[in-house]
Amino acid sequence: MAGVTDRAFRNLCRKLGAGLAVSEMTISDARFWNTEKSRTRMDHHNEPGPISVQIAGSDPQLLAQAARHNVALGAQIIDINMGCPAKKVCKVDAGSALLRDEALVERICRAVVAAVPVPVTLKIRTGWSRAERNAVTIAGIAQDAGIAMLAVHGRARDDHFVGAAEYETIAAIKQAVKIPVLANGDIDTPQKARQVLAETQADGLMIGRAALGRPWIFRDIAHYLATGTTLAQPSSTQVGNWLLEHLDALYELYGEVQGVRIARKHIQWYCVDHAGSEAFWHSVNRLDRMAEQRAVVAEFFGAPELSIAA
Ligand SMILES: Cc1cc2nc3c(=O)[nH]c(=O)nc-3n(C[C@H](O)[C@H](O)[C@H](O)COP(=O)(O)O)c2cc1C
Repeated sequence: MAGVTDRAFRNLCRKLGAGLAVSEMTISDARFWNTEKSRTRMDHHNEPGPISVQIAGSDPQLLAQAARHNVALGAQIIDINMGCPAKKVCKVDAGSALLRDEALVERICRAVVAAVPVPVTLKIRTGWSRAERNAVTIAGIAQDAGIAMLAVHGRARDDHFVGAAEYETIAAIKQAVKIPVLANGDIDTPQKARQVLAETQADGLMIGRAALGRPWIFRDIAHYLATGTTLAQPSSTQVGNWLLEHLDALYELYGEVQGVRIARKHIQWYCVDHAGSEAFWHSVNRLDRMAEQRAVVAEFFGAPELSIAA
């Protein structure tokens, strides 16, 4: 997820039960690779595997080049983004805009698969619009081109995030192909996870927004699927400890100025269900130093023993 799943967040999600955490997307155009932002995104130092890197673009050869570049930097899986509805991505015919051009989808998949010795996975939506729901065809094309796994967000590109995700198309894709299929969209509780697995018969689940400020959702879901029982919700102190671990990883990855800034949105997500969160969030927003940010977070969540960075 762009702006969210940096190495700091991925590592925490993995620690709390996610089997796979995909990087933020990397633009396929090499002219953008030398920015500080891209270098940070492509840095997998100390990241436990499997390291999956998402690439976005529309030119098969540029995507192939991006895939090779990321494998050289440590990617063990390459994921192609054909699911993003963002204007910035779609107006250059990348992301979910590609779903309209099935021949191009095939050329992209074949070029990237041929370019790298690692598995290539594909992220799609159900189609360009509800009227043009061609995800089953796309899935077949992807499988024939050597794609190793598909993740399907149960919305069309035109839906953006409006309305509820539909799972029938994911179920139809699962019936139509042999490669593993991950179901995605609106999964926010262990019970919903079980329901979506039952409805789609998917091989796995992908969770996006429900993990924001709640990375332990992966552990909760895995436990429920394995045992049928729900885990007790973590105490405020436990949440505070995870958040402080997250903050420390952000400071390390980005340095103080940017780290504190990026941390603010995460702090807001973590504290959303807590009493007094709005006033707290406004006060956090005014702080620029990591020691101050850490200290107020530790106090708010009742984890004061951890207010000093290790
Ligand atoms: C802030 C944000 C950033 C996202 N960035 C990406 C991205 O870079 N690549 C991608 O494939 N999907 C991206 N998505 C879509 C999610 O991966 C996911 O498909 C979508 O949010 C639906 O799943 P959910 O209901 O579990 O959130 C993003 C979603 C959000 C909310």
